[in-house]
Amino acid sequence: MCCWPLLLLWGLLPGTAAGGSGRTYPHRTLLDSEGKYWLGWSQRGSQIAFRLQVRTAGYVGFGFSPTGAMASADIVVGGVAHGRPYLQDYFTNANRELKKDAQQDYHLEYAMENSTHTIIEFTRELHTCDINDKSITDSTVRVIWAYHHEDAGEAGPKYHDSNRGTKSLRLLNPEKTSVLSTALPYFDLVNQDVPIPNKDTTYWCQMFKIPVFQEKHHVIKALEAEKPSGIHVFAVLLHAHLAGRGIRLRHFRKGKEMKLLAYDDDFDFNFQEFQYLKEEQTILPGDNLITECRYNTKDRAEMTWGGLSTRSEMCLSYLLYYPRINLTRCASIPDIMEQLQFIGVKEIYRPVTTWPFIIKSPKQYKNLSFMDAMNKFKWTKKEGLSFNKLVLSLPVNVRCSKTDNAEWSIQGMTALPPDIERPYKAEPLVCGTSSSSSLHRDFSINLLVCLLLLSCTLSTKSL
Ligand SMILES: *[C@@H]1O[C@H](CO)[C@@H](O)[C@H](O)[C@H]1NC(C)=O
Ligand SMILES: *[C@@H]1O[C@H](CO)[C@@H](O)[C@H](O)[C@H]1NC(C)=O
Ligand SMILES: *[C@@H]1O[C@H](CO)[C@@H](O)[C@H](O)[C@H]1NC(C)=O
Repeated sequence: MCCWPLLLLWGLLPGTAAGGSGRTYPHRTLLDSEGKYWLGWSQRGSQIAFRLQVRTAGYVGFGFSPTGAMASADIVVGGVAHGRPYLQDYFTNANRELKKDAQQDYHLEYAMENSTHTIIEFTRELHTCDINDKSITDSTVRVIWAYHHEDAGEAGPKYHDSNRGTKSLRLLNPEKTSVLSTALPYFDLVNQDVPIPNKDTTYWCQMFKIPVFQEKHHVIKALEAEKPSGIHVFAVLLHAHLAGRGIRLRHFRKGKEMKLLAYDDDFDFNFQEFQYLKEEQTILPGDNLITECRYNTKDRAEMTWGGLSTRSEMCLSYLLYYPRINLTRCASIPDIMEQLQFIGVKEIYRPVTTWPFIIKSPKQYKNLSFMDAMNKFKWTKKEGLSFNKLVLSLPVNVRCSKTDNAEWSIQGMTALPPDIERPYKAEPLVCGTSSSSSLHRDFSINLLVCLLLLSCTLSTKSL
């Protein structure tokens, strides 16, 4: 946990770039490691505008891809050749063959070239209704980029060789209205000379001494309410490990599902940052939150367990909210005994005082722990799916800890998943007539669902 503040420092620097059409691009980031390829972008209603500034006098390529590779990507290629600007909408098939898109959805707004640089600016709809274009949502996108010293000719762009790359971004970040005035003092927390150990996972935690100030200072905003009638969430960080593919933070109130607090259908472990919500969301006492994760473990032969290593899994969300309530964290686990009954366990040794507890019967599981028994069971796809279904309906054991209370009770309390009478229906994408096929993706197995029940703490506070 102590490592998270550092992640914040990787945020994208807002700013406007000099040169170009004079339009502003509040989001801006470097895509390559040599400082040659700058991307700027800005959402404008149902459209998104991009600005590419690249150190080349040839063509510039940009696109979106499901994996960051060139297959099945949505690509746009532009430049200025013999004083004339061009911009072409392309796509690639699964074999990475580049094809002109019959429906041209990228619209050139500005182009300029000098002897060293090319700048192009263009717009497109977020949802073009073209199956060859990627829909742009709040989810992470793998942006791909390329350039070449020659312009794209009649035969299309030449192969870019090593002048290419990928970067994960979230494009629909709200524009940051900075609460920081430049006059405010600030300090950086920077790790120095950290040796990277040769193993999968290392948690590097470091204490920093905050500079000494003479008078009283505030951390921008610090509000505290003894018994708040609700808390206001303004940012969310969704977290899973290497098998994580999608995460949703669902919000329930009295049987009704509210708008998702946050989601990422294309989670990238290597790109995790707080998503600032477009509008703050209020969580009331009695509400339920569920962090729901979709995983892909098709390339693994063994069980994947929850744990700290990146090859174990997590499913959690960090919420930034105010005012502060006396709650540090909540974790939940679907009832273990009912999980064990699924694989045929009859009895465990009681009383349960330690983890992992031990199975008494039947014979084939005798003296095995929960994990050993689950590993021993012969899982098939069918059983995996019905296990997932069962787990979603099980009572969960919830454990929470308070702000300055390091205790973390073994037993916790039992809670039932919320009754979902009215699930949330996402607003349909506004994109003309046909529906976009990118919405239908292969759902791999939902393995683990964590219930984060703020409700218990909130409601006891308000008694
Ligand atoms: C070309 O344009 C870029 C971007 O505006 C600028 O940084 C660069 O100095 C220009 N180069 C020349 C040779 O004028
Ligand atoms: C939080 O709750 C615990 C247990 O009730 C209490 O000991 C502690 O003083 C509280 N801390 C704050 C900051 O209110
Ligand atoms: C299970 O453990 C008990 C107590 O340690 C031992 O007496 C018994 O032989 C074990 N049974 C099996 C099947 O391993």
